[in-house]
Amino acid sequence: EKPKICVVGACNLDLISYVPRLPALGETLHGTRFHMGFGGKGANQAVMAAKLGGDVTMITKLGQDVFGENTLKNFQAWGVKTTHVHFTDQAFSGVAPIAVDPDGHNSIIIVTGANDLLTEDELEAARADIAAAQIMVCQLEIPMDINLKALQIAREEGVKTIFNPAPARPQLPEELYQLSDIFCPNETETELLTGMPVGTLEEAEAAARVLLERGAGTVILTLGERGSLLVTKETRELVPVDKVKAIDTTGAGDAFVGSLAYFLAQGKPLMEAMKRANRIAAISVQASGTQTSFPEAKNLSSELLT
Ligand code: RIB
Ligand code: NA
Repeated sequence: EKPKICVVGACNLDLISYVPRLPALGETLHGTRFHMGFGGKGANQAVMAAKLGGDVTMITKLGQDVFGENTLKNFQAWGVKTTHVHFTDQAFSGVAPIAVDPDGHNSIIIVTGANDLLTEDELEAARADIAAAQIMVCQLEIPMDINLKALQIAREEGVKTIFNPAPARPQLPEELYQLSDIFCPNETETELLTGMPVGTLEEAEAAARVLLERGAGTVILTLGERGSLLVTKETRELVPVDKVKAIDTTGAGDAFVGSLAYFLAQGKPLMEAMKRANRIAAISVQASGTQTSFPEAKNLSSELLT
């Protein structure tokens, strides 16, 4: 049986401009290339897990517009289950205009739109599918109440949760930490949430311990080129990643979280799942775009997947 993963989160249409450098205030800049892609952290993580072979259910809301229709088709194309993909005529589908510079650095604007309109009733209606999953994943691109509701349902149903507090914000309700079995932020998110630096491993560990004290079960920090850091009450383990040449890091965090969810749902121990998720994320930064840069099972060595 395929590992079952449930993702509650946002879909955006990524409108990516490749630019010689990121624009300054009031500046009009000529880009060199444009790419439109399916994005949104939730959608990216769902597609990542599906590309690896997961049985993935997506819970989300789209606008009744061309972006929404195409997003639905994209999920269908990757075999993501769309029973709980809802549509509204009250808002436009989420969009994310993104600029990427030659070093692969990006700046992103997100207009969440229809993503904000997912309701608690719609989550309740998905309870059986959440309960059937081994892992449920959420991020911060949908309203906080909806995330809390999703995490509560998962807790009630005994389903393990990964919470990815992205995009960064300075504060989160305590309940959210308590309902997160695995709390998985990147460097910026960790710094913003704790007000602490993460430059050295000791600093990163100290910041992670603050997140643990707030109630998270386990903390996994993604540290870019340094790999990922597992911090629990008892241990600290760095899982390093091989150095690669980054072309576009957009969505690398989603590649990590989506594949972490897949490998954990498959029953892999934490460190092993992190090691594999590191490798998948490293593959994703070597190609442009978000979902388009995520590798598929058929192109990966079986040693990575089994
Ligand atoms: O994490 C990358 C994603 O962030 C993009 O796909 C964009 O939609 C924004 O949500
Ligand atoms: Na990429």
